[in-house]
Amino acid sequence: MNAERRVVVLISGRGSNLGALLEARLPLQVVAVISPRADAAGLGLAQARGIPTRVIPAEGYAGRADFDQALQQAIDGFAPDLVVLAGFMRILTPEFVAHYQGRLLNIHPSLLPAFPGLHTHRRALAEGVAVHGCTVHFVTPELDRGPIVAQGVVPVVPGDDEATLAARVLSMEHRLFPYVLRAWAESRWVLGADGQVRWYDDSREQNLRLLWAGEFQ
Ligand code: GAR
Repeated sequence: MNAERRVVVLISGRGSNLGALLEARLPLQVVAVISPRADAAGLGLAQARGIPTRVIPAEGYAGRADFDQALQQAIDGFAPDLVVLAGFMRILTPEFVAHYQGRLLNIHPSLLPAFPGLHTHRRALAEGVAVHGCTVHFVTPELDRGPIVAQGVVPVVPGDDEATLAARVLSMEHRLFPYVLRAWAESRWVLGADGQVRWYDDSREQNLRLLWAGEFQ
């Protein structure tokens, strides 16, 4: 276990996933929270804990490349081991993604590779799927397609609408993301050279079964 590992979290808004990470008292250091929006509620969660925050307003830059460069500079100033996208709603340039290869994690509100992109809950309901959920994965240039670290599954139940399904998935996100980051801090999984994530023990299966179980009663 290495309590010194440094994590920078990027958010765009509410920041409930950031809140779950901070509440979980993980054996890692969140060294900064960065947002393109000054009104992102999640910034307050960081400030309340004395974690440095930065706002990089997207409007201040000529284009996506310039913005991503400024974002990269801000992030690298904190020398993170890992950069975590927790509800960060911008598409990143291939250059930015390449710079953080193997160090950039995202949480996405669907069971990838199903439903990449936006409006995942609405699309899941329209398709009539029986299960839905969330995915923690590495970011690669192709949107929502990088190596999968872990997934949380929830049922779709009769009477669900977009709001009830979103709430069920979000509550799973709040458990899955801290679980994955704790395991990362404890070196229980790695991204292999073959681009696949390898867990070192059988705890993933056991833990995920527990994580999902409550959702299916
Ligand atoms: C979460 O559901 C997250 O999975 C999603 O945005 C929400 C942010 O909520 N992210 C994406 O859709 C990324 N494409 P939060 O700000 O309360 O954590």
